[in-house]
Amino acid sequence: MTTPSPSIEIVGLTKSYADHEVLKGVDLAVPSGSVLALLGSNGAGKTTVVRILSTLLKADGGTASVHGHDVVTSAREVRESISLTGQFAAVDEVLTGRENLVLVAQLRRLRDVGAVADDLLARFDLTEAGGRRAGTYSGGMRRRLDIAMSLIGNPPVLFLDEPTTGLDPQSRLEVWATIRELAGQGTTVLLTTQYLDEAEQLADRIAILHQGRIIADGTLAELKQLFPPTEVEYVEKQPSLEEIFLAIVGHDDAHAPTTKDAR
Ligand SMILES: Nc1ncnc2c1ncn2[C@@H]1O[C@H](COP(=O)(O)OP(=O)(O)O)[C@@H](O)[C@H]1O
Ligand SMILES: [Mg+2]
Repeated sequence: MTTPSPSIEIVGLTKSYADHEVLKGVDLAVPSGSVLALLGSNGAGKTTVVRILSTLLKADGGTASVHGHDVVTSAREVRESISLTGQFAAVDEVLTGRENLVLVAQLRRLRDVGAVADDLLARFDLTEAGGRRAGTYSGGMRRRLDIAMSLIGNPPVLFLDEPTTGLDPQSRLEVWATIRELAGQGTTVLLTTQYLDEAEQLADRIAILHQGRIIADGTLAELKQLFPPTEVEYVEKQPSLEEIFLAIVGHDDAHAPTTKDAR
């Protein structure tokens, strides 16, 4: 396989809120059709990166492009190429799951909105629930519906900002299965997470955002090689991503103070 050109490319990105320097020069490239996990603790700046990439927020410096379009000079083209699923679900609780999907399909001016909705309900295992009000759904079902809604119109690039935060373990597994399915279909996914196991489970590549910079970026196998072998007591034991993370950032920094989200 030849190296595909990156679908998301970030060079030297900086961003401060007042005098709080959150991004201090972030470099990142996500190959087309791959899943990248942007891993970082709470307050590391993951949402800030996603908001800049989705044109909702302006960076102070550096450049970013999505699907070949600069996020500043071609913001409209970027918006047409992406979809964003965040901690705020776009789901309308009063409508049924199917009605939510139909509504988005209508907003995107698609034809055959009923068929689009039914197809997505089937893909996300929501066919039976489709006729019920979304307000009655479990957390995992809502999140799946939210991801399904974000796929309407087949955006080539998908941002999932902490897709499983706040979900119970069962719902989390359901959402993982959904994301795996997307990955199999060639969508470029940038997923942010605080969960090391989530990155390990879903991502082709993992980038660790820490104190304003990407301090590690590679496949899981590559990151595991960064783990100092002298610290592996039992040779047959593979280091977990958590151990790798701690080895890279150092134990003192691992729980670096984070200010509470301003949201
Ligand atoms: N609008 C804002 N105004 C001021 N500070 C903010 C704002 N948004 C985020 N921050 C701060 O910037 C840092 C990074 O936030 P964020 O990008 O949300 O991190 P993450 O998504 O990794 O948890 C945090 O310390 C947060 O409190
Ligand atoms: Mg966040």
